[in-house]
Amino acid sequence: MKKFGIRTTGLEYIFETIISNYILKNNFKENFIFLEVGSAGCVSMKSFYEIVKETIKHEDWSIQGLDLCEGWSLDWKDINSFDGLTIFKEEELIREGNLNSTLNLTDKPREWVAETFAENSIDICFIDGCHGSKCVYKDFKTVESKIKNGGIVMFHDSGMAEMGTDWQACCSEYINVRKGIHDAGLLNASENTDWQPLADIVGSRVHGLDGNGLFITQKK
Ligand SMILES: C[S@@+](CC[C@H](N)C(=O)[O-])C[C@H]1O[C@@H](n2cnc3c(N)ncnc32)[C@H](O)[C@@H]1O
Repeated sequence: MKKFGIRTTGLEYIFETIISNYILKNNFKENFIFLEVGSAGCVSMKSFYEIVKETIKHEDWSIQGLDLCEGWSLDWKDINSFDGLTIFKEEELIREGNLNSTLNLTDKPREWVAETFAENSIDICFIDGCHGSKCVYKDFKTVESKIKNGGIVMFHDSGMAEMGTDWQACCSEYINVRKGIHDAGLLNASENTDWQPLADIVGSRVHGLDGNGLFITQKK
């Protein structure tokens, strides 16, 4: 089984299924882009990369990781063990690898998203940066127009069980991902004519493991 990152125990099968089914449905459409907001040690990103590589039938694809220059959970041992990963820091190339996997470090991540991606260009986005409600809302709003019709956004740490745990200094509140999702009008199908909720998965922490939840929505 592939290894994913922080608090993902129990989500391995879901990640693999969501990504590979999406690709299998759209296998011959060119230019597949996956963006991870808050890629930290790139442990999840490496597995996302492997799933895509194993499934896709063309070469026109990329996995883009995004984090802060001094990201809170950057683990350079893990990052350096990702063979082929290209790394940019504030647009400057600091490690040359292949073009299918790129880690982008910047202190203006939302501006970077706004400038880097065309409208309707991203297939799947995994939002896993700051887990305060304001950041989750802003991260979603930053990527919303960049997602293709039929594209998918996954929010990590969205389960009820983890709300109110782990202080998020950036937003001065405890984990409150669900409020960010709610404020974006994504929680209920009836609230939003542009997005369709696909799944609201409870984390394995409710069974005594360490996984948090995952909310998945699809652009109509
Ligand atoms: C929980 S960790 C991410 C874990 C990673 N996704 C994984 O699966 O292992 C959160 C990361 O988000 C980064 N971060 C915080 N705010 C961010 C933002 N606005 N944009 C991008 N990354 C951000 C932090 O620096 C931190 O490294």
